[in-house]
This record gives sequence, structure tokens and C-alpha cells, in this order.
Amino acid sequence: MSNFDCKEQTNSQGIYEFQIDNDTTLFIKQQNNTLNHGTTIWESSIITAQYMQQLLRSSDNKLKSKRCIELGSGCGLLGLIMCSMGLQTTLTDLEAVLVDVLQDNVKHNLWILNQNRIENNSPFIAQAKILDWTVTQLIPPEFTPPYDYIVATDCVYSLELISHFVRCLNELANEKTLIFCGLERRDPFVVETFINACKGGFYVVKIPEKKLRKMIYKNANNEITVEIYRLKKKKTIK
Ligand SMILES: C[S@@+](CC[C@H](N)C(=O)[O-])C[C@H]1O[C@@H](n2cnc3c(N)ncnc32)[C@H](O)[C@@H]1O
Repeated sequence: MSNFDCKEQTNSQGIYEFQIDNDTTLFIKQQNNTLNHGTTIWESSIITAQYMQQLLRSSDNKLKSKRCIELGSGCGLLGLIMCSMGLQTTLTDLEAVLVDVLQDNVKHNLWILNQNRIENNSPFIAQAKILDWTVTQLIPPEFTPPYDYIVATDCVYSLELISHFVRCLNELANEKTLIFCGLERRDPFVVETFINACKGGFYVVKIPEKKLRKMIYKNANNEITVEIYRLKKKKTIK
């Protein structure tokens, strides 16, 4: 699977094309005219999706039985990229975002992925669900933790939401879960508050800028605005 390209907006409805390999292009709808953050494809979702694609590229076959959940999916690019690598993926967001963009993007792109799947390979699996960090109880049958992967991008921007977001990560993960959070450091205080809130229950590693530059930006001199953090839950002593 090759690194994908974000192409120009293709029509007035704001459909973006992401070519993920020689045969497959995802079509992601966004809506710029809403007051909701979730109806825009943010830069950190593009960079984190490219990073995950490169990170997991060599493990394609091992991913078929793995489960992934995305928090605050918005338009769903990152979750759909996880799905395209074989992970059974649940993409989540607030109801309004689900209705405006997410459920259509999941349905349409799942259809594309399954049309292009190699004969006899198991189908790609993805679903869109409502998950509000502040109220949802993350219990079966709606949610079935622990997930193998949790991903989220640009979900760290409001001080009030941080404790809810971190609680969700904690409820959805166990010590083996790999968690990746991509973000833009718009307000350093918010980012540091998030990292400190995680440090109690998670090991937190920032993917070095040098590595991102090598993997994504191909050593170009572009300014790197996206940071990616890898989290692993600490063992709780009973
Ligand atoms: C800046 S957008 C990022 C969207 C997408 N992940 C991306 O990077 O393109 C933040 C996302 O968090 C979601 N969000 C905000 N508050 C939330 C909450 N309480 N529960 C669940 N999702 C929430 C928003 O609806 C939105 O989709």
C-alpha cells in the first residue's frame, strides 16, 4: 500500500479524494458551512493517517483479527485508513457529526473498499457509532473494550473535555492497547494539560519530529505542525 495523496476538492459539495493505493481512492465528504469542528478534515488526521499507514504497512495480514476504535472521528479519514488495512474499525463522534458526514462517509467508503478487495479475502468491516465522551457508558454490547488500537486526532483543544476524553481512553484500553493521538499544538497549555492528565495512567511517548519528517514529509523543509503521541496504559496494581 502506498502513501496517499490528498487531492484538490473535486466538487462544490466538498468531496476530497485520498488515493490509498494504485486501485483504491477514498472519497471523504466534508461540510465547511457548519459550526461543528467535526465536519472538516483536519491536518492532523491526514498526517496521522499517513503515519499509521506506514507504521502498519508490513503487518497487513496480522491486522485482520484486530479491532480499532476512533474517538472524535469527524469526517472519518483516519478510521477509514485503519479499516483499509484490515482492522475492524468503529468510528465514533457526536450525533450531529454522525448525521452530517460520518455515517455517509463510512458507508460509501466501506462499499469502495469491499468492491476493490481481493477475491476470497475477508470483507472490510467498519461501523459508525455515537460516542459522547461526556456521557456515554463504554460498555457491551454497544462498545466492547479492550480494543487493540485506539486512534484520535485533533480531539485535544478544550480544557473542559480533557478529563472526559482521557477517561474514555482508559475505559476502552487495556495494557496491550496501542493508542495514537495526533494533534496540532494551537494552545501549548491545553496540550501540556492533556499530557499530564495521561501520565497518571499511561506511558506517553511523543513520536520524534525527525521520524515524522523522514516518514511523512520526506525530509522536505516544511514546517511540521502536527504532533503524534503514542500511549500505553499502565498496569493497575490490584
Ligand atoms: C477538531 S475535530 C477533529 C475531527 C477529526 N478527528 C479530524 O482530525 O479531522 C474534533 C472532533 O471531536 C468531536 N468531539 C467534540 N466533543 C466531543 C464529545 N464530547 N464527544 C465526542 N466527540 C466530541 C467533534 O465532534 C469533532 O469531530
